[in-house]
Amino acid sequence: MHVFDAELEQLAHEIVRYSLDRIRMTPPLDGPTELGLLDGAPATVTPAGIGGSTALREFDERFSRACISVDHPGYLSFVPGAPSMASVMFDLVVGASSVYGGSWLEGAGAIHLENETLRWIADIAGFGPGAGGVFVSGGTAGNLSALAAARWRHRDRHGDRGRAVFLASAEAHSSVASAARIMDAEVVTVPADDDRRLTGSAVESVVAALDPAVRERVVAVVATSGTTNLGVIDDLDGLATVAETHGWWFHVDGAYGAAALAAPELRADFAGLERADSFIVDPHKWLFAPFDCCALIYADPDLARRAHTQSAGYLDVLTDSGEWNPSDYAHHLSRRARGLPLWFSLATHGTDAYAEAVRAGVAHARTAAELIDGHDRWDLVWGPRLSIVLFERPGWDADQHQAWSDALTAAGLGLVVPTKFEGRSVLRFCVINPLSDGDVLRRILDFEVPG
Ligand SMILES: Cc1ncc(COP(=O)(O)O)c(C=O)c1O
Repeated sequence: MHVFDAELEQLAHEIVRYSLDRIRMTPPLDGPTELGLLDGAPATVTPAGIGGSTALREFDERFSRACISVDHPGYLSFVPGAPSMASVMFDLVVGASSVYGGSWLEGAGAIHLENETLRWIADIAGFGPGAGGVFVSGGTAGNLSALAAARWRHRDRHGDRGRAVFLASAEAHSSVASAARIMDAEVVTVPADDDRRLTGSAVESVVAALDPAVRERVVAVVATSGTTNLGVIDDLDGLATVAETHGWWFHVDGAYGAAALAAPELRADFAGLERADSFIVDPHKWLFAPFDCCALIYADPDLARRAHTQSAGYLDVLTDSGEWNPSDYAHHLSRRARGLPLWFSLATHGTDAYAEAVRAGVAHARTAAELIDGHDRWDLVWGPRLSIVLFERPGWDADQHQAWSDALTAAGLGLVVPTKFEGRSVLRFCVINPLSDGDVLRRILDFEVPG
């Protein structure tokens, strides 16, 4: 299997050519209408193997067509992705290099570059020189690892007071509640203000009304800098002050929105982030890297190391070395050096290009809001906030919004699925792809269900 013979060389060319063609094309969007391709699909995992060329052809002609690519310019749902060509090509190199990114012993060079990349992120967030962290698989893993470190510090300071309590707003991402469930912790929900922001004063009022026995189990305040549904940045400065006053950990989930820090003129909106104990941002969302990549940064990485380091005789050689082992900073052990595609792209294009690319998303979201405002069939419901806009067709119910969305996807124009706002169904654009420009948005808004 390991011999690099002529057949494998041929296959390598086919794979590189396929990958190049793929990143140059506008990917198809109508995956759900191609699900029939899966009916009666041949077995591909067989005792003798079907051969690399056949497997690649099957993937190209059948299975890949029953998928949606997040980098289609019309993909405007959830949080899209738009990995740069440089980052995608370097993902092949990361795979080919077989570097274990968990320990300095094995991956020092790769880890050095990942840390340089994390340093850039820490710098734009305003973190001090001692900050550091690790790239994990995604925002869900990042939030869990940060909150586990928060609970570790609480127990280290106060002993075990029972179930941890996290304070968060109802607008926080579902992964915060998921982390709490996994940790058998509780989330106390703090009402957001009229602008959907979690504020320091709202947290103070909720905490003042808590049973003192619950209050002493509060471990952390979780803020969001760019909520998933609405793009709202919480009152980070106010929340940092409350957390500091009470001695709580302050975690900021910037999985989607903190990428906007790449544009210096947007940084003021994130004032207070630099006071966090931990924060995350997902380069696979708005920093133009491929899946799966979340930057998790701690103000004091030593606390995270003590919370997360796994201990075993066979790991002592790594732990005793005193070197920087990325495995020690999150809930994981083996890891690929998944920060390298982002590093390569940053090194190739420079950070100014990132500022420009982020600005494009913000500008296109503004364009979307203007187009909706001036459109005779749509009403603007929310935004633009960061790069998110909500809109609706007056008089339409959830089924009608869904039917329009399904027809749009079937037509290969866009993926724009409904979400909920104040309990009702609305449509949502999240624009991060610089190619999702006014023309793309106008075509989508002008789309009518055939018949
Ligand atoms: C604010 C926020 N936090 C966390 C997540 C979870 O990230 P992931 O899907 O990478 O686990 C998301 C995903 O959209 C998000 O928007």
